[in-house]
Order: sequence, then C-alpha cells, then structure tokens
Amino acid sequence: MARLDKSKLDASPISAVDLFCGAGGLTHGLLQAGIRVEAGIDLDPFAEHAYVTNNASARFLRWDISRKYSPSIAKLFSGNKIRLLAGCAPCQPFSKLTNGIKRHRSWDLLDNFARFIESIKPELVTMENVPELAQRGREVLDTFLKTLERCRYNVDWRVVNCTEYGAPQSRRRLVLLASRLGPITIPQGRYNSPEQWRTVRQAIGALPSINAGDQHPDDRLHVAALLSPLNAKRIRATPHDGGTQRDWPPKLRLACHQRASGARYKAIYGRMWWDKPAPTMTTLCNGIGNGRFGHPDQDRAITLREAALLQTFPSSYEFWEPTREVNRKAVTRMIGNAVPPELARSLGVALLEHVRSINSPQP
Ligand SMILES: C[S@@+](CC[C@H](N)C(=O)[O-])C[C@H]1O[C@@H](n2cnc3c(N)ncnc32)[C@H](O)[C@@H]1O
Repeated sequence: MARLDKSKLDASPISAVDLFCGAGGLTHGLLQAGIRVEAGIDLDPFAEHAYVTNNASARFLRWDISRKYSPSIAKLFSGNKIRLLAGCAPCQPFSKLTNGIKRHRSWDLLDNFARFIESIKPELVTMENVPELAQRGREVLDTFLKTLERCRYNVDWRVVNCTEYGAPQSRRRLVLLASRLGPITIPQGRYNSPEQWRTVRQAIGALPSINAGDQHPDDRLHVAALLSPLNAKRIRATPHDGGTQRDWPPKLRLACHQRASGARYKAIYGRMWWDKPAPTMTTLCNGIGNGRFGHPDQDRAITLREAALLQTFPSSYEFWEPTREVNRKAVTRMIGNAVPPELARSLGVALLEHVRSINSPQP
C-alpha cells in the first residue's frame, strides 16, 4: 500500500476539499494518488480522530454542511492550485436498505454539494454514491447533473464495481468526475476478470485466528462480535468457504427464512469464500445475521480490522483513539460508509493525469 509522500503532496497541482469525509476513505485514496487534501468536513465527532491521524495535514472540520455557506468552503482551498471539490454524501437515503421512503431529508445534502459547485465553480469535482442514485434517486442525480451542465463542466459518470480497481470486495458504486478544464473520463480498472480480482484470502488470510467475542491483544480492531449460543451453533453448522444457512439442519433455521420469501435472505449467516472477493462491507458488517459476513473458516463474523482491510484501508489505519475503549458500532459505521481508498486512488490518479494532459496538450 502506497505511503503518503508529504513533499509530493505539497507539490501537487490539485488542492482538494472532501465534503462528508467520514473516517477518510476518499481522502486517503486521493492523498495516496498525490493530491493535496486541505480539509475534510463531517458532522460525526467520532470520525475526527481517524481522519486527522491518518491523512497527512488534512484538517477535520466538524460542520453540518447543510448550514454552511460557500465562502467558508471556498477559502479552504490552497490559493494557487487547481481546486477539486470531492464528496460522498450519505448513501443510505438511496440504498435498497431504506425501502419505502419516498424522499429522505438527507437527499438535500447532494443539493448542498451542487450549491457549492454552482457558487465556487471548482475546476474539478468528484462524487461517489450508491447505484440506486441513478434509479430511485434519479431526480436528485438529474438536478446535480443539470447544475454541472449549467456551469459548463465536462462530466462522466457510471456505476463501477470496486473489484475492477483492486478492492477484494464486490461493491457497486456510482462515481462521477467533472472538469471545467476539458473532457474527462472515469478510468478503467486494471482488474477486469474474475481471475484478476483480489480475494478475501489475499486481504485477510494472514491475520491471526481469533474466537467470537475476543479482541486480539496487538490490535484492538481485530475484534469479533460475541455470538449467542444459538448463533454459535449456526456458524458451526455452516460449511467452511461459502456455506450458508441453507446447509443447516431445520432446527437451526429462522422461521422467516423457511418461508418462500426467505429466499432473498440466503446470504445472511453465510460465510465468505477464501478465493473470491467479499460482499459489500456495510455499516453492520461485523454481525453474521446482517449478510454474508461469516469468516471463511473460523466460527465467527469478520472483525473490524478484517472489514477495514476488505475496504482497502492500510493495516495501520487507526480508527479509534488508543486511550479510549473502542466504540465498535461507530467504527463499523465509518468503515462500512467509506469509499474504498483503492477506488479513490484510481480516481485521484485519473484527475492528476487529466490536469497534466491539459497543461501539456498532445501536439
Ligand atoms: C458515505 S459517508 C462518507 C464516507 C467518506 N467519504 C469516506 O470515504 O470515508 C457520509 C458521511 O456524511 C456525514 N454527514 C451526514 N450528514 C451530514 C451533514 N449534514 N454535514 C456533514 N456531514 C454529514 C456522515 O457523518 C457520514 O460520515
């Protein structure tokens, strides 16, 4: 994993501000690419430690973005550089997990992002969200795209799978790049076939074994949720490497899963496969009842460190203050919400190449 090079960041032609920065997945990838990130903005107080500890000199501003005016954002950029406004507004309003909600208050947060673009007119923009933004959130996406069009941006957006960018995780996300400098395209990933995809084994296979309910003495994030006696029986009855609740004897099954409608829950209580990418890490990915979050062959859910590695955070990424007891719920939320740094790094490299190509056009 690339280390942050301070002199390279100081010399970067791009100065970025990260809206909705969380623990810093997007910021970290941009920094790894060589983009200087001045500040991240988020209202979650738990995110501050992770953000400032792992992200060079980027500042954390605990602001409610919906209450901020553009000048407070505009003055964060470094004066003589090309400005990149980056952001991943909360995804839950559009995701499949929020069935039945017609319009969520948080949808307005993407409108706030557009408001800043319209007023600041940064040369570059990048935005990431769930694919559902192009379906049930289409109206919100269209408003965002219209703002970019009105401000004369060149825009490219599409739904990508993070496996293509080297994440050992199947995670589909809508990504957008926009530039006022010239035409820009979302970069193609380098991992284009299942044989090339990074796997769970490559990401977490070397971590020490641990039992459900235990925390590793050398890494407080290598901590696995305690299982109830029934769930302990269930995970033991789930075959290693990809087994699911369908493999259980009837007495272990949940009533709702025995009904035909339970078919959609087949991944719940499942184990990951060693030699495939993991499923999408969510804000609840440390519980076996929340998806295919069982370890491939240990009788437990994945640990927080494993989730962070599957999200391509470096193994040294510090999510919680060493002197405070880890708030697992808060850390899992930050990890599950993050843009995988490897995806962000690819986008950052593409933005830097774009700027270079504009500065030294081909004859
Ligand atoms: C999808 S997460 C962002 C993840 C982050 N970009 C990363 O890569 O780690 C969305 C973030 O928006 C933040 N958020 C929600 N409402 C906000 C608001 N009104 N102002 C600022 N941040 C907000 C949440 O705390 C959450 O961290």
